[in-house]
Amino acid sequence: MALTTFSDLVSEAREQVLTDAVAAGVLHDGVALNQGGNGATAYADAVATYLALAVDRSADFWCTLATWSPQPKNELVAHAFTRQALPMTWDFAEANPFSTSGGNFAGNLAFIIKVVQESSGSFRIGHVKQVDVTTTIPAINLPLICTDPPYYDNIGYADLSDFFYVWIRRSLGTVYPDPCRTVLTPKMQELVAIPYRFGGDAEKARQFFEEGLKKAFVHMRGAQHPHYPLTVFYAFKQTESEEDHTEKGNNASVVASTGWETMLAGLLTTGFAVTGTWPMRSERSARSVAIGTNALALSVVLVCRPRPENASLSTRREFMAALKRELPDALKKLQHGNIAPVDLAQAAIGPGMAVFSHYAKVLEADGTPMRVRTALALINQVLDEVLAEQEGEFDADTRWALAWFEQFGFDEGPFGVAETLSKAKNTSVSGLVEAGILAAKAGKVQLLRRDELAADWDPTRDRRVIVWEVTQHMIRTLEQEGETGAAALVQKVGGLGEVGRDLAYRLYGICERKKWAQEALAYNSLVIAWPEIVRLSVQSSSQVQEGLF
Ligand SMILES: C[S@@+](CC[C@H](N)C(=O)[O-])C[C@H]1O[C@@H](n2cnc3c(N)ncnc32)[C@H](O)[C@@H]1O
Repeated sequence: MALTTFSDLVSEAREQVLTDAVAAGVLHDGVALNQGGNGATAYADAVATYLALAVDRSADFWCTLATWSPQPKNELVAHAFTRQALPMTWDFAEANPFSTSGGNFAGNLAFIIKVVQESSGSFRIGHVKQVDVTTTIPAINLPLICTDPPYYDNIGYADLSDFFYVWIRRSLGTVYPDPCRTVLTPKMQELVAIPYRFGGDAEKARQFFEEGLKKAFVHMRGAQHPHYPLTVFYAFKQTESEEDHTEKGNNASVVASTGWETMLAGLLTTGFAVTGTWPMRSERSARSVAIGTNALALSVVLVCRPRPENASLSTRREFMAALKRELPDALKKLQHGNIAPVDLAQAAIGPGMAVFSHYAKVLEADGTPMRVRTALALINQVLDEVLAEQEGEFDADTRWALAWFEQFGFDEGPFGVAETLSKAKNTSVSGLVEAGILAAKAGKVQLLRRDELAADWDPTRDRRVIVWEVTQHMIRTLEQEGETGAAALVQKVGGLGEVGRDLAYRLYGICERKKWAQEALAYNSLVIAWPEIVRLSVQSSSQVQEGLF
């Protein structure tokens, strides 16, 4: 009832705005916003558009999928779209549109107003057109193409859009007659491999997606201005769409993803090569799925140009050698740029694919061309190796702790195994106990959890400071005292702090493989907070300097 009423009121408000604008002396030329107008009619259309968006925002709260978020969290009406899906709910909370609490209309409108106020008013020539990219690329003089393609079967955008579209159509159907022509959003052309659109046939859905994406890239290649690269944004976690796929044979047993594979295969078969990559922070860190989870925070921007005609062939062995040559440096750069561990595997696809796509073909031992899937698995494998090689930068105790952690986590393990491992790593169990990271009793040993580590640890007095404990203490302090506390600790450990952060990448990788999500989150959080921790520690050390002089 409320949604219907508010939607209908948008048209009434539009009439009122038009009357007021004309009365205020704005040119009444009758040209709609949709037709490029900028007089009173276009002004009324614009205000109506913003109001309709506020009603749409309200739909997210005024529906039976809105739930109650109870104490101790926040006690409010939680909106329906906390994920890119419509979840099943057992009960719902009803927001009062006229209240001053969560989901009320004035609050929803306030968000839209904020966006308007923050937006630059200087753009005069933006155009939006709805077209099917598999059949048309809009004709533009200087096409600089930048695309954010769909993720295989991951998100049903058109289905989800209907949730909002029905209200937009009701309030703005006459303002935007063309895109509001259809009763629901168009589905047939949508590039998404959802089997139910094809009578449950997963194979047909796959074919439709792959062929459609290829057609889209062919069109883009044809339309693209030769002086500019095509840029492709891709924000999809490799492991998100499926269970681990392991490649048998070929010495590779790593995760590869259908989403990434189909997208890259589409790009490469149409003659593009990846010439650069930019990991880019594109998602709001407080986005609901990101809070308390290991959600991706970045898009990988792939910079693509047509592959040169004279690109050479390569063998699998040459490809692997080139990966091993190029990836360590690329990885160092990514880590220096403070890429979150959760994003590292995605970000490494860029430099890896740059190597792969540089060749006309990479040939397998039997003469067949290597599949993108295999290349992705090999990139992941080399990434793992490179990360493992970085272990050389850690002290012996830390290398022991890493190997132990990989096998036992924070659980108990047999003393004998610990002893053998300590010989291999050139340290000793008693030394590790003395260093304060290990408990050993009754034939069992156990790595101390963060909350079991000495509470009054002072690195300046510790005679055996090891990177492992630096990392764990930094995380514990971050969790308990926030970034300021962690900064004070970093000031004390000096350069070891940075090495401790590097260790967090390695530990994240182990936790992800072992599916220890909670523990992985701790390492991811340290890297994400790192720039702020460093900033605060530099700030407080320069304050000390001021005091001195
Ligand atoms: C990853 S999303 C892009 C999201 C966008 N960058 C944003 O921030 O809103 C992929 C988009 O591709 C669109 N899409 C799917 N099939 C299409 C087709 N055949 N033609 C044009 N667009 C299509 C989907 O509707 C979806 O909006």
